Amino acid sequence: METKKRLKIGILTAGGDCPGINAAIRGVAKTAILEYGMEVIGISSGFAGLINKEYIALNETHVSGILTLGGTILGTSREKPFGKKQLQDAIDRPKLIKEHYADLKLDCLVCIGGNGTMRTAGMLSQQGLNIIGIPKTIDNDVWGTDVTFGFDSAVNIATEAIDRLHTTANSHKRIMIIEVMGHNAGWIALHSGIAGGGDLILLPEIPYQEDVMLKYLDERATIRKGYSIVVVAEGIEKPKKEKAGEYISKLIGDKLGYETRVTVLGYIQRGGTPSPTDRILATRYGTYAAELISEGQFGRMVAIHENKITSIPIAETEGKTRLIPPDYSLIAKARKMGTCFGDTLPTNVTVL
Ligand code: F6P
Repeated sequence: METKKRLKIGILTAGGDCPGINAAIRGVAKTAILEYGMEVIGISSGFAGLINKEYIALNETHVSGILTLGGTILGTSREKPFGKKQLQDAIDRPKLIKEHYADLKLDCLVCIGGNGTMRTAGMLSQQGLNIIGIPKTIDNDVWGTDVTFGFDSAVNIATEAIDRLHTTANSHKRIMIIEVMGHNAGWIALHSGIAGGGDLILLPEIPYQEDVMLKYLDERATIRKGYSIVVVAEGIEKPKKEKAGEYISKLIGDKLGYETRVTVLGYIQRGGTPSPTDRILATRYGTYAAELISEGQFGRMVAIHENKITSIPIAETEGKTRLIPPDYSLIAKARKMGTCFGDTLPTNVTVL
């Protein structure tokens, strides 16, 4: 009877780190090794590791005890082998990647990353490498899946911060502005803003009007509560050199004269142990990636559609970003409770 070839896979993690990456690595590697008898190679620092031949053999010991560990045991980078600048310089990165993939005798390369990573992975797939993509980012903006791991952890962190801002805002009767990450999408701002009881939530997907925003805050200050919580996504419309939170704070301070303070949550949203939700999602993605490889299904990104695990052709993600749809039900519900998104005054707010 013909013995089945022992498959050999490489795993790399690229782009911004986030809680849950190690859970995904563990999901892929343990399933590959224990269920399918595969050989697993860990590639350091994203695509840079494949270019510079920085890899280690991963066995079950390497990936035990990492489920709850933040960051990535493999390290990451934002190396863009097909970037405009990179393609102009002397080093042919895509060629080195293909050569080293062949030297390693890999049967598949698992790329754990966000939009940029999926773009690179898709191009390598078009150039003949067997690729599986696993969508990760706190931004939750990878096209083709309902949710990325990292997002739930970031929302938990941001929500806890907003909860804490309520007490100090109330004590000083101040307008507290918190800037959260999300790149060009507002998913973290929306979900943490709702979970944290934000009064004004500014999203890149909903262009705000200065006068509406100011009227809303002025009305709250004079008629309702003596303080407000403003949740600002870092990617909102603002002058290039300005930081989102500082810009909004200055606008409010200068135009309304109220006391404001800014908190930029920054990299805290990407640190620490993954939430249980992210651990489960990352594990689902990782184990399913190993399944697809065992079935010889390549050129795909694992995904969740209405809580069902599935996969899509990785080529479909090319150049796309998943932004909050205009008819997203959570926004409509929040508006009904008097939350303002800066575009129109809530109906229950009387214009002074
Ligand atoms: O993509 C995740 C993210 O944290 C974004 O939310 C943020 O804008 C960006 O990475 C920061 O990039 P860097 O880690 O290169 O500073």
